[in-house]
Parts: sequence; C-alpha cells; structure tokens
Amino acid sequence: MSFDIQISDALPRDFDNVEPLYQEAFPDEDLVPLVKELLASREDVLSLSALADGKLVGHAIFTMCSIDGEKGGSGSNVALLGPIAVMGELQKLGIGSTLIREGFRRLTAEGIGQVFVLGDPNYYSRFEFSQDDLVAPPYPLPEKWGPAWRSIRLQPQDQVVSGTLSVPGPWQDASLWV
Ligand SMILES: CC(C)(COP(=O)(O)OP(=O)(O)OC[C@H]1O[C@@H](n2cnc3c(N)ncnc32)[C@H](O)[C@@H]1OP(=O)(O)O)[C@@H](O)C(=O)NCCC(=O)NCCS
Repeated sequence: MSFDIQISDALPRDFDNVEPLYQEAFPDEDLVPLVKELLASREDVLSLSALADGKLVGHAIFTMCSIDGEKGGSGSNVALLGPIAVMGELQKLGIGSTLIREGFRRLTAEGIGQVFVLGDPNYYSRFEFSQDDLVAPPYPLPEKWGPAWRSIRLQPQDQVVSGTLSVPGPWQDASLWV
C-alpha cells in the first residue's frame, strides 16, 4: 500500500477523531480519559498526529517529566512516550515509527535528554530504547514488566542520571502503571 503520511501537532479539531482511534487501538483498555487530560495540558505534552489525505490515522503523546533524586546530569529535561495508537488497518506500515522518530527529532532539538516508555520490548527495542534500571518508574511495576520499562538517551553527551521519574497530574494514577 502506498500513501503519504503527514505528521503535525494535533490541533484542537483533532480531539473528536483521537477518541475513536484510541478506542479501536486499545479495545480492552479505556485510555481516552488519560489522552483527553494530557491533550488539555498542552504545555506539558508534545502531541503528534499522523494524517493520510487529511484524515487522522495515528497519534502519539510525549509528556514532559523530571527525575526526582537525580544524581548528576540534566535529568529534569526528560519525556515519557505514550500512549501511541495507529488505526487498525494501517498498523505495521511504518506510521508508528514515523511518529516516534519525529517526536525524537523535535525533543532532541528542544534539549530533552531522555525519553522513557513502558511498552512491548519487541517493538520499542527497534528504536534503541533499552531497559532502564537507573530511573525507576513513578509506581512500582509487577516484576515481569521490568523489561518493558525502557529509555533512550537523546543527548548522549549528557551525564547518565538516576532517580525516580516524576510525572505530571494525568499520569499520577497507580492504575495506569499496573
Ligand atoms: C504499536 C503501534 C503504535 C505501532 O505502530 P505501527 O504503525 O503499527 O508500527 P510500525 O509499522 O511503525 O512498526 C514498525 C515495525 O514494528 C513492527 N511492529 C508493530 N507493532 C508491533 C508490536 N506490537 N510488537 C512487535 N512488533 C511490532 C512492525 O511489524 C514493523 O516491523 P518491520 O519494520 O519489520 O516491518 C500500533 O501497532 C498500535 O496502535 N497498536 C495498538 C496500540 C498499542 O499497542 N500501542 C502501544 C502501546 S502504548
């Protein structure tokens, strides 16, 4: 299949389209309240839309965070990736990768040092996310999820930091982390 994908900052008119996208991509999980809260706090998030022929086909959110108890480095400039969703029939065609790489490009330019994610290691390892044992997630994870807690360093010259990821309000809900 061949089509042009455009990536843009999600505009308010995308809000109504974002909802069915997440409902379809996550049929067993209601992420819509989280997505809506994140999109409402726009200064704390990078919200990227993937558009094909002007239609929303993918969406990704990067939330700006900090690291509590960091030792060394500029750990306050970090981000959390998620959620991310691509329309069912267009999955595995590169749209998710395009959203993630565009997010990395923009965050790198803004001086963000590191991006964290809680997600499938098989998928995220392809972006050089590696398991992170130095910065703990905001809530303890079940042991079997250890390999799913990952990060990528966008500014390799920065010192490695350690501590606990401190997340803004929408992410301060333990049920999102179990
Ligand atoms: C996960 C998701 C965002 C990936 O987006 P996508 O556009 O389908 O992914 P891409 O096409 O960019 O994937 C690139 C590669 O990863 C593979 N891939 C995609 N999803 C994968 C998954 N869940 N596990 C392992 N590999 C996966 C693709 O096959 C592709 O492989 P290739 O390069 O060898 O062909 C999308 O499939 C989705 O919305 N899934 C349901 C919701 C979800 O699980 N979101 C992530 C958790 S927050």
